[in-house]
Amino acid sequence: MKLYKQRESWNSRIGFISAALGSAVGLGSIWRFPYVVGQNGGGAFILLYLIFLALIGFPILITEILIGRTAQSSPYGAFRTIGKSKYWGYLGKVTIITGFIISSFYSVIAGWMLGYLIEAIKGSFSSIDGNSALSYFNSLSSSSIWSVGYHFLFLVICASILFFGVRKGIEAKSKIMMPLLMIVLLILVVKGLTLPSSSKGLKFMLSLNFKDITPAGVLIALGQAFFTLSLGQGTMITYGSYLSKGEDIPKSCFPVVLLNTLISILVGIAVFTIVFSADLNANSGPTLIFETLPIVFSKMAFGRLLSILFFILVVIAAITSEISALEPVISYFIDEKDYSRHKATIIASTGAFLIGIPSALSFGLLKNFTIFKSNFFDIISFFSVNVFVPLGALFACLLVAYRWKIKKAFEHLKVKDIAFIHSKPIFSVYFKISVKYIASVLILFILLNVLGIF
Ligand code: PHE
Repeated sequence: MKLYKQRESWNSRIGFISAALGSAVGLGSIWRFPYVVGQNGGGAFILLYLIFLALIGFPILITEILIGRTAQSSPYGAFRTIGKSKYWGYLGKVTIITGFIISSFYSVIAGWMLGYLIEAIKGSFSSIDGNSALSYFNSLSSSSIWSVGYHFLFLVICASILFFGVRKGIEAKSKIMMPLLMIVLLILVVKGLTLPSSSKGLKFMLSLNFKDITPAGVLIALGQAFFTLSLGQGTMITYGSYLSKGEDIPKSCFPVVLLNTLISILVGIAVFTIVFSADLNANSGPTLIFETLPIVFSKMAFGRLLSILFFILVVIAAITSEISALEPVISYFIDEKDYSRHKATIIASTGAFLIGIPSALSFGLLKNFTIFKSNFFDIISFFSVNVFVPLGALFACLLVAYRWKIKKAFEHLKVKDIAFIHSKPIFSVYFKISVKYIASVLILFILLNVLGIF
């Protein structure tokens, strides 16, 4: 049995909430959420997403935090300790590798956001229009130096935070960045709502056209619920391992889910009021932010300032998520290989940089290097987000429900002081049904669908 060194820990509950919220709010909430809502019919899709968050997102978040908190080790050690075998440990390793792979291409998109922030500061969007916006985006993203350079720069920023460890790095920086993000977001929402035809954007978000929801849309809503809460990739297990035994887990997780949801909705309001007020299309897909928003900002009063604020918002959100994707592998190196934090951070971020290079080149130099018409970036992001993230969440559910057993796991949720909702019997029923049955079945559906069987 391996004896672990004294583990780092969060300084306070607020610190944990800021870090976990920082992990949750990222490109998933700001870049992906608006465009999948735009493509899948607005309000009805949002409602479905909210149902999935409540039905399985919140319980699985509690499950992952509980696994980490109980074992006090990286996802590998945590799966092995609770599963009581090295085979469970291997499943833990899969989640660590998933987070690490995600961090490699996540940093590429985040790098583009950083590049766009610099362009916004330079005022490059001031004369952009519908024709030039897309070609502008294409010329930047296909430039090897631009893409790889900003990918590198972004990782340097993240590594310099991770260098300082859990309290002085992740917690301290998240505690500054999350309120800043809220302020910037509120400015953009107020601006959006005061635009001439902002009601069109709001109507789109509130429209409940259930006939617009396709089976694929259902799965996208489900996948979004996992991805946005950073589940299935070792992140929340690792963050849980820094939580003290006296902390009430559901009470600490609830604000994370609530605020993350609120922030996604506010981002939706900001983006759609701005997009609709310019009579632009909401369903332009992944390039919505890169292509559509610069056009709108170019026409708006204070557009330059607003575009700077917007890309600051995205970059902050991406930094606090990227560090959370790298932390599981760092904690693995520290726990299992006895590396110092500095060494672990340098190895993990250099690895993410190198693995990310083919993703960064997928839109230029390696554009024609495709398998089934998909480039390297498409393939690696598709499999990690759509296959390995649900699998990782499934492993956590199976571990708790069928190996550890819900009843025993539940005892570890109890704390000395007055318990939050889980003192009520209804909560244990909800938790049990969700983790043991609903989550597993829904995840199997996603996987069968991805593999083309369902
Ligand atoms: N929750 C993050 C987001 O919404 C996703 C993420 C977290 C990705 C951690 C990687 C690592 O952007």
